[in-house]
Amino acid sequence: MKAIPPTNSPIIAAFTAHTPGSAAAYAEARTHFPGGVTHDTRYVRPHPIAVARAAGARKWDVDGHEYIDYAGGHGALILGHAHPVVTARVAEQLAKGTHYGANHALENRWAELIKDMLPSAQMIRFTNSGTEATLMALRVARAATGRSKLLRLRGHFHGWHDHVAFGVTNHFDGTPTPGILEGLSESVLLADPNDDAGLSALLAAHGHEIAAAILEPTGSTYGQVPLRPDFVHLLRAATAKHGVVLVFDEVVTGFRVARGGAQEVLGITPDLTTLAKILAGGLPGGAVVGRTDLLELLDPERAAARGVEKIPHQGTYNANPLSAAAGIATLEILRDTDAIARTHATAATLRGAMNDVLDALSIPWAVYGQHTGIHIFTNWNRLPITPRGFDPLALGYADLKAPRGNASIVKLLLAMRTHGVDFSPWPGGPVSAMHGPAEIEATVAAFRAALLDLRAEGEIA
Ligand SMILES: Cc1ncc(COP(=O)(O)O)c(C=O)c1O
Repeated sequence: MKAIPPTNSPIIAAFTAHTPGSAAAYAEARTHFPGGVTHDTRYVRPHPIAVARAAGARKWDVDGHEYIDYAGGHGALILGHAHPVVTARVAEQLAKGTHYGANHALENRWAELIKDMLPSAQMIRFTNSGTEATLMALRVARAATGRSKLLRLRGHFHGWHDHVAFGVTNHFDGTPTPGILEGLSESVLLADPNDDAGLSALLAAHGHEIAAAILEPTGSTYGQVPLRPDFVHLLRAATAKHGVVLVFDEVVTGFRVARGGAQEVLGITPDLTTLAKILAGGLPGGAVVGRTDLLELLDPERAAARGVEKIPHQGTYNANPLSAAAGIATLEILRDTDAIARTHATAATLRGAMNDVLDALSIPWAVYGQHTGIHIFTNWNRLPITPRGFDPLALGYADLKAPRGNASIVKLLLAMRTHGVDFSPWPGGPVSAMHGPAEIEATVAAFRAALLDLRAEGEIA
């Protein structure tokens, strides 16, 4: 392993001294995994933390340190870690078998719940992940329309398959990232979020050849780069006019923004919706759901009746009983309790308390977000803003998202970890239903301590 250069950063030195077990685990991980990680966003130097166990809103690393968690299972764990009901249902199912290679009652129950909570879900096809769900949604749209092109919004993430892998964190000109065919990227049209005129012009020129438009309906990264609701309504109207299949990627927002996802709050019915994360209660799982006339292209009899070849689709673990058990337990709780509303309230309180800290320290950053999201705007372009007056809709992607690896953000994340809080790298994270006053208090104290560390190091004026 290449040694990392010695640091003159007290923040990095403190983190390194605090986490020797994580450092050792990472040294081994680098001998197994490219970059020492199994998901790109976990990559950070000098090393990520290695976690030994988790419960509720907290997790503990291999050195025994406790963290308030804002990774949230990359968004899958709105009920926190090891929720007792979810865990019990999974354990109960484990004893009955993990895979029947056959239909089973739990998949029906799971589907019923989805339809109950998300009225646009007329039919459902389960997948193993969000990536697979968006891949299938785009394929269904192409098969249904006979058109080849796709419309995406710059910065919106839909997984890592070939159609969606560029124009997310880079390659905004639509050129392919490594390993993706030139020809394939040419069939993808990228539009700028919140650019009404650009969107209308693009659809006027190419609407007749576009199979699907796909987007994260509250904006990319949990709404870090928010979308104006009227822009989404414009997209709905324009796609309907041009016969383009509108796909809401609700892998993050489904069962989080509301019981019926972002579409419930926006009052928009998409043609197809992709789901994952919360859907499967912390286990692997995804689904593409939506209009019967589209999804029946997966049905051998219905496709034959329409005189078309069916779309093939397999997947060893589709709707496996363990994921179904976790998904059902989670969706029942979200449907039948106030967990979603409570989580939104906790997130709003936390955003306010973190902005109080910024105000008190006269730091021109802001903490903002919608629903369960916490987004820390670190103002890397040094714009004249105040924590309370900040309006993310006034800014574009380039201002809201600092380039990956931005030194101040890395130091903020590491300092927060040393002070007992694990934020996601954008920086921010989702709040869970298990976060409460004690977690808010600890997070705010860690935020304050980390900001003072950054100021002492000259990262903040
Ligand atoms: C909006 C969105 N779509 C799709 C995906 C891909 O889901 P998965 O990681 O389950 O493949 C993600 C994952 O973070 C996502 O945030």
